[in-house]
Amino acid sequence: MKNLILLAVALCSLVGCEKAENTARSVARKTGDLVGKGAGEFFSGVGDGVRSVADGSVPDVLSAIASRKSVRKFDSLKKVDEVVVEKILRAGMAAPSAMDRRPWAFVVVRDPQQLARLAEKLPNSRVGNGAPLAIVVCGNLDNGLSGRGKEYWIHDCSAASMNVLLAVHGLGLGAVWTGVYPNEDRVAAVREILSIPDGYMPLNVIPIGYPAESPAAKDKWDPAKVHTDRW
Ligand SMILES: Cc1cc2nc3c(=O)[nH]c(=O)nc-3n(C[C@H](O)[C@H](O)[C@H](O)COP(=O)(O)O)c2cc1C
Repeated sequence: MKNLILLAVALCSLVGCEKAENTARSVARKTGDLVGKGAGEFFSGVGDGVRSVADGSVPDVLSAIASRKSVRKFDSLKKVDEVVVEKILRAGMAAPSAMDRRPWAFVVVRDPQQLARLAEKLPNSRVGNGAPLAIVVCGNLDNGLSGRGKEYWIHDCSAASMNVLLAVHGLGLGAVWTGVYPNEDRVAAVREILSIPDGYMPLNVIPIGYPAESPAAKDKWDPAKVHTDRW
């Protein structure tokens, strides 16, 4: 099946059979046959905005997920290019969100004085460990969803944050998710330092940089946490 789909994609690419190629790709995506392929291949055939998230050199998605780990020490001399930062932000914004509301905003902190303020007030954030950059993921509390839906910003921004972590890893950098919300003291400090307006809530601070440590990724597989058909 897998080989047939890939053959169909290749043949259609050769003869310029665009519709059939798209169909073959769509089948391949639905059946998961492109999982495990290079991200460049997975992302080809979709829009420009998506293509520019993946440059074809990132590890395949399952390897990337398995090998990601929190990095808490950074090379302060190695700056992170603006183009790279945009790729990371694009990955964050590619996340799923409830009713596609995308209730997120990202504060990119590069100013050394601002980073020093964050490091001082939030030692847990590891920003002080040489990070040349931090991204603060903020939720829009007025996401247009009512009742219990109001809380969906947390889910949505968490999905965006995970995409940020994976993109960082795929691009050869390191990062760690450090918690802000719901710790009131941290929320107040971040809000004040970064002038975050009412109606937005900082969820986390993600220091990013080239790693100055190489912790091992953890094997967290635990079959005892899996239930089949019933708990
Ligand atoms: C909601 C959340 C809050 C976290 N807060 C912190 C933090 O304040 N400081 C920190 O160093 N790591 C923090 N982490 C990172 C976790 O400690 C880390 O993900 C965990 O130990 C697993 O390690 P791994 O990311 O290398 O797999 C946080 C992670 C999450 C998801």
